[in-house]
Amino acid sequence: MHYAPGTEPCPLPFSPFKSCTVPRPIGWISTISKTGRPNLAPYSQWQNLSFDPPMVMFAANPYSDGRRKHTVINAEDTGWFVWNMATYALREAVNISAMEWPEGVDEFEKAGVTHAPCIDAPGPRVAESPAQFECRFHSTHRLRGNSAHGGVDVVYGEVVRIHVADHVLTAEGKLDIAAIRPLARLGYYDYTTVTEVFEMRIPGASGMAAAGLEGKA
Ligand SMILES: Cc1cc2nc3c(=O)[nH]c(=O)nc-3n(C[C@H](O)[C@H](O)[C@H](O)COP(=O)(O)O)c2cc1C
Repeated sequence: MHYAPGTEPCPLPFSPFKSCTVPRPIGWISTISKTGRPNLAPYSQWQNLSFDPPMVMFAANPYSDGRRKHTVINAEDTGWFVWNMATYALREAVNISAMEWPEGVDEFEKAGVTHAPCIDAPGPRVAESPAQFECRFHSTHRLRGNSAHGGVDVVYGEVVRIHVADHVLTAEGKLDIAAIRPLARLGYYDYTTVTEVFEMRIPGASGMAAAGLEGKA
């Protein structure tokens, strides 16, 4: 089957789009409002874009009434947002933090997770999460949206500080991904976690690039 999503109805009962771009890592993003209220929400339209400097992005659709997401407003107002690694153990907290709480409600409290202080960014990171990026807001690119609710906010940031909990590091100083079990989004209501890791090196490549180890970050 095939169809043109911009002009033709989807022939399947559910759109296959999100289910084809899998697994998507989750940007579990904490921010603080300009009045000092912490905020936490998951964004599976999240990615790293480059490693030198390390840049990241997330895309926020507006709420059904057209309001922009609190995470975007806070990042723009304060100039900062923080990515927290979501894990299988934290899956319920991630889900609760996605609920549409009114502005000013601290989703950390609702989700049962703890504030840990940041070093550069204002506002907290999630203490229970094994890794966090403190990100300086770079810009918002507003993409055209087809829904009645307006465009999509694509937010870019530069990672200026990386935190990794010592207990998730292997003896050789790598993140123990299979033990961390990062949470990732599939299509529909489905999720997965990374439980198995295998290594491949690019044939003929040498040095750091062969192992994907290039970049200061
Ligand atoms: C796993 C997961 C991933 C999500 N990814 C996105 C996303 O990429 N973009 C988006 O606009 N909303 C996404 N949502 C919904 C937001 O988390 C939700 O609208 C939240 O209330 C936004 O909170 P905020 O206004 O405090 O930023 C996701 C929800 C879940 C559970």
